[in-house]
Amino acid sequence: MRYGFFDDNNKEYVITTPKTPLPWINYLGCNDFFTLISNTCGGYTFYKDAKLLRMTRYRYNDTTPDTNGKYFYIKDGDCIWNPGWQPTKTELDSYECRHGIGYSKFTGAKNDIEASLITFVPVDNPVELTKVTLTNKGTSKKDIQLFSYVEWCLWNADDDMKNYQRNLSIGEVEVVDSTIYHKTEYRERRNHYAVYSVNTKIDGFETSRDEFRGAYNGPDKPAAVIEGKLHNTIASGWYPIASHQINVSLEPGDSKTFVFALGYIENAEDDKWEKPGVINKKKAHELLSRYQTTEDFDKAFNELCNYWNGLLSRFHIESSDEHVNRMVNIWNQYQCMVTFNMSRSASYYETGIGRGMGFRDSCQDLLGFVHLIPDRARERIIDIASTQFQDGSAYHQYQPLTKKGNSDIGSGFNDDPLWLIAGTSAYIRETGDTSILKEMVPYDNDMSVATTLMEHLKRSFDYIVNHKGPHDLPLIGRADWNDCLNLNCFSEHPGESFQCFGPSEGPVAESVFIAGMFVKYGREYAALCKLMGDTAEEARVLGEVDKMIAAIEKDGWDGEWFVRAYDAYSHKVGSKECEEGQIYIEPQGMCVMAGVGVDNGNAKKALDSVKAKLDTKYGVMILQPAYTRYHLELGEITSYPPGYKENAGIFCHNNPWISIAETCIGRGDRAFEVYKKTCPSYIEDISEIHRTEPYVYSQMVAGADAKFHGEAKNSWLTGTAAWTFTNISQYILGIYPTLEGLSVNPCTPAAFGDFNITRVYRGVTYHIEIKNPNKVQKGVASLTVDGVEVQGNVIPFDGSKKEVNVVATMN
Ligand code: BGC
Ligand code: NOJ
Repeated sequence: MRYGFFDDNNKEYVITTPKTPLPWINYLGCNDFFTLISNTCGGYTFYKDAKLLRMTRYRYNDTTPDTNGKYFYIKDGDCIWNPGWQPTKTELDSYECRHGIGYSKFTGAKNDIEASLITFVPVDNPVELTKVTLTNKGTSKKDIQLFSYVEWCLWNADDDMKNYQRNLSIGEVEVVDSTIYHKTEYRERRNHYAVYSVNTKIDGFETSRDEFRGAYNGPDKPAAVIEGKLHNTIASGWYPIASHQINVSLEPGDSKTFVFALGYIENAEDDKWEKPGVINKKKAHELLSRYQTTEDFDKAFNELCNYWNGLLSRFHIESSDEHVNRMVNIWNQYQCMVTFNMSRSASYYETGIGRGMGFRDSCQDLLGFVHLIPDRARERIIDIASTQFQDGSAYHQYQPLTKKGNSDIGSGFNDDPLWLIAGTSAYIRETGDTSILKEMVPYDNDMSVATTLMEHLKRSFDYIVNHKGPHDLPLIGRADWNDCLNLNCFSEHPGESFQCFGPSEGPVAESVFIAGMFVKYGREYAALCKLMGDTAEEARVLGEVDKMIAAIEKDGWDGEWFVRAYDAYSHKVGSKECEEGQIYIEPQGMCVMAGVGVDNGNAKKALDSVKAKLDTKYGVMILQPAYTRYHLELGEITSYPPGYKENAGIFCHNNPWISIAETCIGRGDRAFEVYKKTCPSYIEDISEIHRTEPYVYSQMVAGADAKFHGEAKNSWLTGTAAWTFTNISQYILGIYPTLEGLSVNPCTPAAFGDFNITRVYRGVTYHIEIKNPNKVQKGVASLTVDGVEVQGNVIPFDGSKKEVNVVATMN
């Protein structure tokens, strides 16, 4: 069942009922100012940091879900309604929400009044704009009232929901004309405030939540709206809000439009006050003056659309498969940008007050957006590398505002260092910019011990060389990619951190997954050494890689698939010898992607085992059989009920590894089959089962052991976005950036047909036509570049050209 449809021409998903299975959200904002907005106008706004600079309040785990947002109420006689349905939930005569790229539109109608909202954050200004248009569609005059509503958060979102003994006394606002200023804590150590304004004279305002709602009402029954009159109260403490009242008379056919602006203002320390107690509003006036008319609004909206169209056009496909076209050209790239902006901080499943930026997450996210915003990818790599320790290990997380490593979690996740190589290699393959390798980058943010980035990569690699276990496989530490495989933890008491508890990072437990990574990213590091002329290091690295391959073949192979790990007793994990958890997805994907077993048939065996044992109609499960009891020696993974999360859920993040692995052995049909199973557009028809947004990936889909098999959770902020884009664009469609130039090597289903790709790469636009006359799954028989046949798969890079035409014929 569907709850809407894709409008590809407008790059929108159109939701046709407010009663979606879960709130379906969108993100507004490109740089520092961000809003989450649901299809019923729920959500919140923050500046730069979702925890520390939260502007509007959201409630988690509340009884009526998703009932705080930026609302507009319309009072038409006794009928009070919202264009986005929530929070009054008055049945609408019509409703539509269009989530677009960086904006959302809502149209609601009731009793001959139509209200349409367009909301977005301009590319370069810290303000959210909403254009509200009210139209009288009926035949008699209407006198109605429009009320805006936001509830302020007292900036630190964590403290805001805990520290009432202080917070209920500190709220402060000012109101001048049509602008409400939220200035809590501005009197002391803050130099920022928020504004909510509208470009018209208002008929009243409210800044006290109790006055607006009435002490015991929710936002669904605001007393002042029911009364039809705001009381112009200046809040003092308690719960500051901002609400405007505008009385509107509409003759039949008439429309009126208002532009609302919610902005963030920062003043210099010595320029905070206009006079004692009165904030300096100069910058607020400047900001608001830019958006006083609908023309200003429309101009900023066009700029936003151009910005996004520019980004998304860097990779564009035209094929006969509308799902692939839509996901590649629009939604998958968009989701990659959102993961760049948010990391794992703020979604409807991440509260924005928890973890900061993950080391491995951020490195992997890079794989999905490096072609879109290479300069910001460069900065990101330096930020991440700056949190590395001198021995090559890394803080598992860091804070986006301070860019400092998070010492509560510390290090010891032994896959982390290798992801730095993955991200850096992707950046250089994309841009050719080797200067980044010569940048001086600190360790643990200490510039006095800085080295080149190249040296950081060496230390990443050597961290694994220097931390091997009894089978010469990498030690796992607190966990590897699978945060929940905690082989050194042994936690017996609730509340202990599964990852950080435990006697040590462990001298015994080993990871075959990290071994696969070491082979894959070790080779990418070796290629960088070669590129930089360091052939001695290249040879050393490749020697270490060979040793690791031998160790995987000797002790990491279980006969039909790759073993997952060895635990702290050196017992196998993910082996036919195990009682539960006999086969895991991760080493099958990673080892084959690294090329291990491709020549001796083990890769094919491993992938056949995946198909036989882990596949479901909704995707490939992470392991089987699910763990039915808590295993002290395995940790958090066995804490989840069977079928959920890391315990036999379908972890969407590593489904593309299997799909990529299939392309490595040339099976395009199967690679695409795996791609399709979790691809949002392909499963739009089962939205009532899948439940999360049909336009973006979720982290997890419940596995076959779960009660709600097929149900997704944790949409938007997941490494799935980057890996699925990598999979479809670089492996299935086969446009892979190498150090020398773009290579063209598709691996598609036999029946996929011909397709065309436009790819902007190192400043050159490539028009690539791929023909598959004999319906093969893999193999390029000929490649012509501007009419000239070239040998091999790589288009030689020529920066003097602006446009290049390529024809590749598969066979
Ligand atoms: C796990 C969580 C863990 C998180 C953060 C998830 O996939 O299920 O329990 O805290 O990753 O790393
Ligand atoms: C989510 C985490 O953000 C990611 O780093 C991890 O790899 C997966 N969970 C799997 O545990």
